[in-house]
Amino acid sequence: MSGNALGEPFASGREADVYALREGVVLRRYRNGEDATGEAAVMAYAAGLGYPVPRVFRADGPELEMERLDGPTMAAAYLNGELGPDAAASIMADLPGRLHALPGRDKVGSIVHLDLHPENVVLTERGPMVIDWRNAGDGDPDFDTALTALILAQVAIGSIEHEIGADAGAMLQRLLQLVSGDPLAKLDEVVAFRAGQWTMSAEEVAALPRAAALVRDLA
Ligand SMILES: Nc1ncnc2c1ncn2[C@@H]1O[C@H](COP(=O)(O)OP(=O)(O)O)[C@@H](O)[C@H]1O
Ligand SMILES: [Mg+2]
Repeated sequence: MSGNALGEPFASGREADVYALREGVVLRRYRNGEDATGEAAVMAYAAGLGYPVPRVFRADGPELEMERLDGPTMAAAYLNGELGPDAAASIMADLPGRLHALPGRDKVGSIVHLDLHPENVVLTERGPMVIDWRNAGDGDPDFDTALTALILAQVAIGSIEHEIGADAGAMLQRLLQLVSGDPLAKLDEVVAFRAGQWTMSAEEVAALPRAAALVRDLA
């Protein structure tokens, strides 16, 4: 489908544009043409086990047609005061907890999201729902939790610029008290993984040890 036929995207992230397609349905498309069928399979698996994820209608190459979610992202709701810090931390602890209760598809480990942070959670009437399953698959739950913690720490130290800023540190501290599993067990591996992600700038990579140190301090 050509960009022109779709009009302007109503939302854009770092990697994808999202278009309103028809009533209740959006089209998410990777700008770099990357394949979305793997994440669609994880989403369908998680949905089948009752996890709060938008329903997928079609996946074809970089295009993913899915249920449109109505509501602000957790980040937006936090910034406009709709969502308090304690509620934000308990949602950020609950969502990975429930995700990691889903057995991996090869029966080893669990389902992991690998980009679970407040920009990828939408607060809907049906409760918080998780989007942006690009990196999702089967894996180690502690790795996933450590990654969420590291991302919040990057925001808290100001390495990743986000309006939440230092409040991400308070959210992280509370989150670390609530999470199941061990958020430090895989932290070193997570730092290496994060350093290799193409979305990370050289400055962000250089600041990763400082972000990891904050996670350790707060845990
Ligand atoms: N199913 C959906 N319904 C409504 N809005 C969505 C949906 N999926 C994504 N969005 C919107 O698009 C934005 C970017 O989507 P996301 O999947 O996070 O892509 P990126 O990888 O670019 O961050 C989200 O912040 C959200 O506002
Ligand atoms: Mg996103």
